[in-house]
Amino acid sequence: MKPTDYFSIKYVPKDSFEVNENLIFLDQTKLPLEENYVSTDNYERIAEAIERLEIRGAPLIGIAAAYALALSLKNIQADSEKVFNLAYERLARTRPTAVNLFQALDELKNEFENLPDKKKAFEILLSKAKEIHKKDEEYCLKIGRNGLSLFRQKSNVLTHCNTGKLATGGIGTAFGIIKTAYENGLVNHVYADETRPLLQGLRLTAFELEKNNIPFTLQADSSAAELMKQGKVDLVVTGADRIALNGDSANKIGTYNLAILSNYHNIPFYIAAPSTTIDKKIATGEEIVIEYRNSKEIFHIGETLISPENYNAFTPAFDVTPAHLISGIITEEGLFTFPYNFIR
Ligand code: MRU
Repeated sequence: MKPTDYFSIKYVPKDSFEVNENLIFLDQTKLPLEENYVSTDNYERIAEAIERLEIRGAPLIGIAAAYALALSLKNIQADSEKVFNLAYERLARTRPTAVNLFQALDELKNEFENLPDKKKAFEILLSKAKEIHKKDEEYCLKIGRNGLSLFRQKSNVLTHCNTGKLATGGIGTAFGIIKTAYENGLVNHVYADETRPLLQGLRLTAFELEKNNIPFTLQADSSAAELMKQGKVDLVVTGADRIALNGDSANKIGTYNLAILSNYHNIPFYIAAPSTTIDKKIATGEEIVIEYRNSKEIFHIGETLISPENYNAFTPAFDVTPAHLISGIITEEGLFTFPYNFIR
């Protein structure tokens, strides 16, 4: 029987039965048909999980990478600097777009470099990783509460990709807003884009909506314009993987389409993300590195090959929505509107 609750990631300390301390994560590539948890203390296994999207979603990637970098030093006494640098470089190569990954890795790097005695590095970095995890959980709750101001009446909400517990350390970002608003009687119905090609909407958001008993309808990504034309969408809310200082926001491929469609139909279009998704080093979205995925992902649905594999394919995993198309960005600090100035 399937457990009624689920988690994306959990750090399990050594218990009285001498069970090794491990990171346990839910393999998201198998959802929703299989709820398979993987237990590991191997940073390379966690790096692979991030690459393969067993672990995914901007905040969760950062949290997992932090645990992985700490774990690289478990049982290491000599040469810890060499091991740390190798693990840092490996984890930084996993996925390029979500800035949370680099922010988390750099937080640990800063901590490590300032340690006078590297013998305690594992414990100290582990507590830093736990702190990053806990902070994201708190940010999600605040984003959920801040998002209530977007609802003027009981609304129909459209969302894209997956932004819930499976993508973060807490209740989620855009999903956290939907969940909090639903619990406050402000959500009538959720429309979830399937999110081609890896189907995070169909497989993961639907899984989370069902677990939370929130009424929903799935649709092919290409149905959004028709849904809006029929007057079935009151607002759109999605997450983000990296936000530039001017508010340009990278998110799952297809988000930019939704922003254009929302503006055309006069429907508010919001982005929800923790402040750790804001890249304070870049002025505009032009500087965001967009990940291109293997074309295999276009030609397969799940494990099944559905077309010849030698066709050319255009495979960006993310697109950048220009700031002027975004009605507001909700972080744990509140609602920001165009022109964006994230310093309060
Ligand atoms: O490729 P993914 O599944 O990692 O992409 C995830 C998204 O685009 C999410 O919308 C984003 O990370 C926000 S998660 C709170």
